[in-house]
Amino acid sequence: MKLDKIPPVRDVFSSKMGVIAAAAGSAVGLGNIWKFPYITGVYGGAAFLFVYLGFIALIGLPIMLSEFMIGRKSRSNVFGAFKNLAPNSPWKYVGLLGVAAAVMILSFYGVVAGWSIDYIVKSVTDSFASKSPAELGSMFTQFIEKPGLPIFYQLLFMLMTMAIVIIGVKDGIEKYAKILMPVLIVIIIILDIRAITLDGAKEGLYFLFHPDFSKLTADGVLSALGHAFFSLSLGMGTLITYGSYIGNQNNLAKIALQVTVADTLIAILAGIAIFPAVFAFGIEPSSGPGLVFITLPNVFQQMPGGFFFSILFFLLLTVAALTSSISILEVVVAYFREELKIKRTLATILATVMISIVGVFCSLSMGLFKEQTLFGLNLFDLLDWISANMLLPLGGLFISLFIGWYWGRKSIEEELAKGSKLSRGLITAFIFVLKFIAPGAIAIVFLNGLGVF
Ligand code: PHE
Repeated sequence: MKLDKIPPVRDVFSSKMGVIAAAAGSAVGLGNIWKFPYITGVYGGAAFLFVYLGFIALIGLPIMLSEFMIGRKSRSNVFGAFKNLAPNSPWKYVGLLGVAAAVMILSFYGVVAGWSIDYIVKSVTDSFASKSPAELGSMFTQFIEKPGLPIFYQLLFMLMTMAIVIIGVKDGIEKYAKILMPVLIVIIIILDIRAITLDGAKEGLYFLFHPDFSKLTADGVLSALGHAFFSLSLGMGTLITYGSYIGNQNNLAKIALQVTVADTLIAILAGIAIFPAVFAFGIEPSSGPGLVFITLPNVFQQMPGGFFFSILFFLLLTVAALTSSISILEVVVAYFREELKIKRTLATILATVMISIVGVFCSLSMGLFKEQTLFGLNLFDLLDWISANMLLPLGGLFISLFIGWYWGRKSIEEELAKGSKLSRGLITAFIFVLKFIAPGAIAIVFLNGLGVF
């Protein structure tokens, strides 16, 4: 079967910039700005950051390239991709794992995006003005525990995600990301400058950049791995799905490198905006999912134009969340559409309704159902933990084994020759990493994190 001809019914990104914007739009989101600082705080700072960076370079980048290759070669959704490339084999179940991860992730992702929408409103109504750090803290906690408003904003966000996905890949995804992401970066840099000039900022920079590896736990290392996958949108077929829309003339290796570098830089820039302020305002670095929402309003209060910047920041954070959420929904939609053979609109509505129902319970698990826990985690944390720390690394493990062992050198060279010229040495290194290093490291970190050793 000749698979690399693009069937006329499938969408293709119109330009190289479009591809990068969409993939970077998927990668850059709440993961960088909300989750990265919060878990870095929970796991003790710099040592966690360094381990995370190691995983990004060693495992994330090669797996990102692998996902692009699988997608472009198969021109299919995650499930279909493995079915096409490895017919009559159990590989297709890796795709199902990805669809399950997508459902779980978007369920809680929508909740946090809803918080961000609420914080746009709070910014516009100047609600942070002259509040103490403690007051801003309880403002956040009281809000997320409510059963009404957070769910309203969450569902609003899910509706927006649905609308963009229904409009389709080309028009929906490419256009907005291209213009808005650079603006977000500029705002974060302005916040960085304000944060590091606060009194007491030094301690925050020390926390973020001066590693004490003795503080690192097995759980922390697993979370660093899980977050490398989460932040780069890897391990569940998002970039397989997007790869399936990439034209054969594009240089996949270069795109993967650019997206990885951009995503990582934005996370670090977000960390530089947060931690100096955390210490300057006496906030607990390990205070959890509220860290960004509690810390930044303090910073906005202390800067000229803070009112204006806070509106812009939460607006763009919501947009960044949208360019990620559409990529998560797209995994489920492409699967429903091509495997259940239903129309895009119906597939999108179905997926959105399903995810929103689970999502509402995630939101409620912050307040009403706070006491209902499993392994000490409420539903929100549980879905986050299972998807990021289990399903994504497992997906990554299978993807690396698939390319490294199942595909073999010839197919890899063939696919990489389209649009790029990698030296033989680099290709050999790439294959070596996928065959041994990535699966070995993932397996060890995974079993260690689960307490098997
Ligand atoms: N990478 C996105 C973020 O950092 C989240 C995401 C995870 C998107 C998995 C797609 C797949 O916000």
